[in-house]
Amino acid sequence: MRYTDNGTTPRTAGVRTADRLAVNGGIPIRSPERTWPTWPIPAPDAPRLLESVLTSGRWAITSPSGAALFERRFARMFAEYTGVRHCVPVDHGSSALVIALESLRLAPGDVVLVPALTWVACASAVLRAGLVPVLVDVDPQTGCVSPEHLDLAVGAKALLAVHWACAMADIPALLDVCTPRGITVVEDAAQAHGAEWQGRPAGSFGHVGCFSMQHSKVLTGGEGGAVVTDDGELAALLQELRADSRRYASADAAPQGLELEESATIMGANLCMNEFSAAVLCAQLGALDEQHKIRNDNYDVLARLIEDIPGVRMLRRHPAQTKASVYEAALVFDELPVGMTNADVAEALAAELHTRFYPPREPLARSPLLQPWTKPSLAPLTERFVAEHRGRRYPNAEYLASHAVLTHHSTFLGVEEDMRHIADAVDKVVRSAR
Ligand SMILES: Cc1ncc(COP(=O)(O)O)c(C=O)c1O
Repeated sequence: MRYTDNGTTPRTAGVRTADRLAVNGGIPIRSPERTWPTWPIPAPDAPRLLESVLTSGRWAITSPSGAALFERRFARMFAEYTGVRHCVPVDHGSSALVIALESLRLAPGDVVLVPALTWVACASAVLRAGLVPVLVDVDPQTGCVSPEHLDLAVGAKALLAVHWACAMADIPALLDVCTPRGITVVEDAAQAHGAEWQGRPAGSFGHVGCFSMQHSKVLTGGEGGAVVTDDGELAALLQELRADSRRYASADAAPQGLELEESATIMGANLCMNEFSAAVLCAQLGALDEQHKIRNDNYDVLARLIEDIPGVRMLRRHPAQTKASVYEAALVFDELPVGMTNADVAEALAAELHTRFYPPREPLARSPLLQPWTKPSLAPLTERFVAEHRGRRYPNAEYLASHAVLTHHSTFLGVEEDMRHIADAVDKVVRSAR
């Protein structure tokens, strides 16, 4: 068997000559020699900016030195990118969530609604902020939390509205329901840098917007995070919460070149972003929109190809979402091939294509990563957490967790032909079971 010039197995009258799945010893759809884009891709300016940090004598916001801080430069750049006035960089997306929740100044043990289908940090950050996460189901089309799934009877004081995979939650609709009921909407845009809803950037709708810049994200500095807001007073509070009660000093108040002054209106912790990550992020942000364009064009190509395959669909975005930020693409197998789970399908696709496909994680209600009872200091919160979750069900989250297959956004950073390979592999896996 030889691969065609474009690296796939040849077709004869629409039927492939090698239809046995690669996972069962058949010939893969795509030649193993054809590689996929790797991630992360260093932006052209990243080495120069990193080198300048190395030699600047200033590796952290707390270093007393005259070199201009990349941390502040990134804060300005990212605020502009998200269309808000203020950005407070932090060391991780999880820290962004913790300080955003702390900044609400809720009472200990207050309830925060969290979608059941997301990364564990969304719930653990709530606990770290002294609050109780109550999990709610998600919309079956977008995988995001939506107004009809909110529990309005539990007395929640906040909602963590997560944009999931490549779809945005309908924040305007969530605000309409939450605001009159005194529920503050915190937007978790950790997976949605640069996504837009009717032309407005993700992260700019809620009371505050939170981002992660961890390695796998579309904008990464290795580790990192940020909180964005239009509210100047809130930004000052967030600065203290992430720098041991210190905020940026005004130019005349800066003691001996220190960037931070001890304003101390609220107790904080050290959750500051380091200068290496900040420098890399300044460079990477410059490349982000070009990468979005490639990914989004390829995503649209794949979505069109998948439409022709019965029983499979791509995760659907709300029509008001005017720009996607593809963090993970979700193929939903409404008709799973007979005898296969979505994990089997993911394994089969990975074997055909030689890149990662994987099922979503289980809903948080049964995640082994969410076990507050293993931490004695969380005991008072755990009691309510356990009591609130007895008998709760998350059918839509469970459905997506058992029918979707995900792939990382780097899969979309190549050429259109890659999308045809994916569609051919999906088609082959679906047909293999008929
Ligand atoms: C939706 C969401 N929120 C928060 C986080 C936490 O970010 P970090 O890993 O940077 O702490 C992640 C990370 O994957 C995430 O996907």
